[in-house]
Amino acid sequence: MRSKVSVIGAGNVGATCAFRIAEMGIADVVLVDIVEGLPQGKGLDMLEATPVLGVDVNVIGTNGYEETANSDIVVITSGIARKPGMSRDDLIQTNSKIVEGVTENVVKHSPNCIIVVVCNPLDAMCQMALHVSKFPKHRVFGQSGVLDNARFRTFISQELNVSVTDVFTCVLGGHGDTMVPVISLCTVGGVPITDLIPKDKIDEMVQRTVNGGAEIVNLLKTGSAFYAPGVASAQMVEAILLDKKKILPCSVLLEGEYGISGVYAGIPCKLGKDGIEQIIELKLSPDEDAGLKKSAEAVRSLLPIMGI
Ligand code: APR
Repeated sequence: MRSKVSVIGAGNVGATCAFRIAEMGIADVVLVDIVEGLPQGKGLDMLEATPVLGVDVNVIGTNGYEETANSDIVVITSGIARKPGMSRDDLIQTNSKIVEGVTENVVKHSPNCIIVVVCNPLDAMCQMALHVSKFPKHRVFGQSGVLDNARFRTFISQELNVSVTDVFTCVLGGHGDTMVPVISLCTVGGVPITDLIPKDKIDEMVQRTVNGGAEIVNLLKTGSAFYAPGVASAQMVEAILLDKKKILPCSVLLEGEYGISGVYAGIPCKLGKDGIEQIIELKLSPDEDAGLKKSAEAVRSLLPIMGI
């Protein structure tokens, strides 16, 4: 029997993620949205792409949750996106209510699923999904680090004119201004980037990564990035469904790791069929450690706003 992945929110990020999952041929996909016709139309369009792609999966769209029943994974992308001048935290009031309602429905229909949260502010939305679902933390986590690292990897590969696949980066912490790049672990073909790129250029690329979302919001003007966030989320789904034991940065609830407790932060994790199978504890410099703690406290400060 094929796996089943439901993607809540059939907007830019949700549709991109759903299509990528269908394209990989790894699961049947159910797209859910509150707008009548939108998930149905996009779902049918994706289904009609499958003969060309040569994949045998079903894709459907719906405004309800019955069709999502017994999903293996549910990806939550529903919510509003940023407009120019807005920070991710500005979305909290609206998106926390959406995530609360969506999670209740998800849990009712798929009590054993793994939830991958994508909507912003990401780390806070993970916290809301965990709170409402009461799932164990290894089954509720978020996508942000795959995207932040993808952006940093892009800039490095462009700077050095090397394959993106040879670039490894490590960005920790929250999805926002408080992200923490661990430059000592960033390499190209195993060579530290500090041996290849001058410090001021690295700093510039880090800053561009921190502002990566805003750069795209300012260009699009009517919404935020979706191709890279969509495929980043699909990569996490793939790692889980195929039990790849892949090390990917995930927003995960920390309970003592890195000296932080009770709050979500982006940390490299082993992703397999059970969700988060291991939280990797890296050796950090005092500055990086302080940066990660600051990032976690920034997320913690959002919790009272959501009433949790
Ligand atoms: N249930 C289901 N779908 C919903 C709900 C809900 N309660 N509320 C809103 N939606 C849907 C909207 O109808 C819309 O189609 O969520 C979709 C969001 O799509 P977009 O507006 O295109 O936003 P997108 O770019 O996909 O971003 C979604 O992901 O990256 C983050 O910051 C981004 O929080 C934002 C989220």
